[in-house]
Amino acid sequence: MNLFDLSGRIGIVSGTASGMGRAMATAFAEAGADLILLDLNQAGNEATADTLSKLGRKVIPMRCDVSRFADIDAVYAVLDREFGHVEILGNVAGNGAQGPAEDMTPEQVQYVFQNLVFGRFYNTQQAGRRMLRQGKGSIMSIGSISGVTSLARQQSIYGMAMASVIHMTKELSTEWSGRGVRVNAILPAQVTNPTNGLEARMDREPGLRETFLHGIPAGRLGRPEDIMGLALWLASDASSWITGAIIPMDGGNLAMNAGGGHVGKSGHNLKI
Ligand SMILES: NC(=O)c1ccc[n+]([C@@H]2O[C@H](COP(=O)([O-])OP(=O)(O)OC[C@H]3O[C@@H](n4cnc5c(N)ncnc54)[C@H](O)[C@@H]3O)[C@@H](O)[C@H]2O)c1
Repeated sequence: MNLFDLSGRIGIVSGTASGMGRAMATAFAEAGADLILLDLNQAGNEATADTLSKLGRKVIPMRCDVSRFADIDAVYAVLDREFGHVEILGNVAGNGAQGPAEDMTPEQVQYVFQNLVFGRFYNTQQAGRRMLRQGKGSIMSIGSISGVTSLARQQSIYGMAMASVIHMTKELSTEWSGRGVRVNAILPAQVTNPTNGLEARMDREPGLRETFLHGIPAGRLGRPEDIMGLALWLASDASSWITGAIIPMDGGNLAMNAGGGHVGKSGHNLKI
């Protein structure tokens, strides 16, 4: 038996034009799942779909703003028509905002919560209803290390929203796991890719790369591919007793009290 086989399963993944969403969708398709891919960037999403279709999968790219309930309703109408079931949901897309807490406007707060909290909840609810009827399903949401610890980078609203994603995971796991639907969260630390702007920011801000690395005992920043094995494990029967888990994908960041060390040094290179 291949514990990681996803043949015959249907997955919905958001944020699939780039980064961790594309990497997650690739892992699912390589393991045999057919997919609906959601992104605002239709050209990038179609490119991902083309690549994954070549693996022999049925892949439907949809332009969807995960912060808009009507867009998500349209996704599930397509799912019901084209597939009739869903076993996997990956909540990846959604934007944050950065700035001093005292200056954040109500509109910015609403924007972040609409993207990261209401979007993830509504998508989870739509998939969850179908999975509960089936008695089987695996839902995973990208949170962030900022949902459990302050990043000290003026990301209060983002951190508050990611904390909500973490608590949603615990609540829904508790309500649904007895009916076959597992709900888990993945908390990345800094994951760079050419499109998410992190490389550009590190180039602009002197010392930022070193500051990030200071908080990562593994000694390197994350790459989108780092999510592939973890996401496949969570989607598959290999993790059938894993639910309500809040899993760091962070090179050791949360295990370390990064606030107390020497800037630019961490466990892997610290010599005192
Ligand atoms: N990269 C990191 O360091 C990091 C760390 C922790 C958490 N996260 C979170 O992980 C998620 C993905 O990050 P990434 O680095 O892979 O980003 P990315 O920018 O590489 O990819 C995000 C994708 O989501 C799409 N998208 C953005 N808003 C959308 C919306 N409202 N509806 C539909 N699609 C939308 C974008 O077009 C893009 O294709 C984000 O929610 C981010 O906050 C990222």
